[in-house]
Amino acid sequence: MIRFLTAGESHGKALTTIIEGFPSNLIITTDYLNFHLKRRQAGYGRGLRMQIETDTVEILSGVRFQKTLGSPISLLIKNKDWENWIEKMSPEKKNNKVEKITIPRPGHADLVGISKYNFDDIRNSIERSSARETAARVAAGTIARRLLEEFGISIGSFVESIGGVYPKENFRENLFGNSLPKNFKGWDLSEKSDKSEVRVLDKDHEEKIINKIKQAKKKGDTLGGTFYAVATGVPVGLGSFVHYDTKLDAEIAQSIMSINAVKAVSIGTGFEAAEKFGSESHDEIIMDKELLIRRTNRAGGIEGGISTGMPIIVRGAMKPIATLMSPIESVDLKTMKAVDARRERSDFVAVPACAVIAESMLAWSIAKYLLLKFGGDSIEESIENFRNYSGKLYKRIKKNFSR
Ligand SMILES: Cc1cc2nc3c(=O)[nH]c(=O)nc-3n(C[C@H](O)[C@H](O)[C@H](O)COP(=O)(O)O)c2cc1C
Repeated sequence: MIRFLTAGESHGKALTTIIEGFPSNLIITTDYLNFHLKRRQAGYGRGLRMQIETDTVEILSGVRFQKTLGSPISLLIKNKDWENWIEKMSPEKKNNKVEKITIPRPGHADLVGISKYNFDDIRNSIERSSARETAARVAAGTIARRLLEEFGISIGSFVESIGGVYPKENFRENLFGNSLPKNFKGWDLSEKSDKSEVRVLDKDHEEKIINKIKQAKKKGDTLGGTFYAVATGVPVGLGSFVHYDTKLDAEIAQSIMSINAVKAVSIGTGFEAAEKFGSESHDEIIMDKELLIRRTNRAGGIEGGISTGMPIIVRGAMKPIATLMSPIESVDLKTMKAVDARRERSDFVAVPACAVIAESMLAWSIAKYLLLKFGGDSIEESIENFRNYSGKLYKRIKKNFSR
């Protein structure tokens, strides 16, 4: 079973990740990791920090001559602004001149953090609850993505809406109607959306969203939005219906929901399916040459907690950023008096980045179940296990049922 842990504070010295359980001989390069880390930092509406800091990763262990060794992989992402934060964030002796933060921001983890951990300075809570941690997750998820590529699995994402501004074009028909081109890959979505400042699929939509963000900025306000993450090439049979904690849809929902500020996740047509007739919701099973396929993909590639072989389609909703330049009401914990919530360096919108993080989390969840089914000690052994299975699937079904 693969797993990863991240460590590091938002303005600490660095973020680190330890990743365990990957087979040996998988090719990993720092360039590949940095490419995806950079994608997380982009997007119109991000704060100053994303403009001044470019994340780069250093591989500390588990990889030799660009190939995994089967041992734990550890990665380091330095916080480039550390020099300016040493006084405020030193792990050594306390500096009494550092002012404490006493006004919690509604919608952030400030008040719950100090309540739970018994802090007298909100800084102690902000530092780990910040979405800075997701840089380390993208690094781990990118290793999972690299693994999936070896199996022909491809992941991409795009932003569907920001601040309630949706596209005119009904791309959902393509996704759920199974009318995507035959050689379509999940990554095709990212290739297109990465060209847009807000990671949407059409120019007209982009313009409308940027206008909406400009309005929000002018008011000192923030916005959230919705996004899709899609995985293609996922074989039939990942996950299981036998236990609540072995279902692939439940695993993916947990992964996506764990991203900061994500408040809803659905698979396939999700909430919409609840409003439809069964005949409009389910995916007919048809024969296509020697394959059993689905006429549509409203289930979003998972039935009974098991992958169907169709693209896995996940939708997420991110709430608006909690730090407002025109703040709403809070209480100063020092005086217990009503005040405006605290302002600080912040993003106005981070939905484009959130979608990139969702790609990494989706990659991680699929890699976890892929390796549970096919995992060997080396990548070669894992691929061989996979080939034996996928090549024989149709024949196996036919043989079993014609007895
Ligand atoms: C990529 C990304 C960037 C974020 N940037 C900010 C930010 O600059 N300011 C802020 O207040 N919240 C930001 N957030 C959201 C907070 O991290 C999140 O609201 C907070 O951790 C509380 O968790 P919750 O919203 O899941 O309850 C960001 C989230 C993501 C995914």
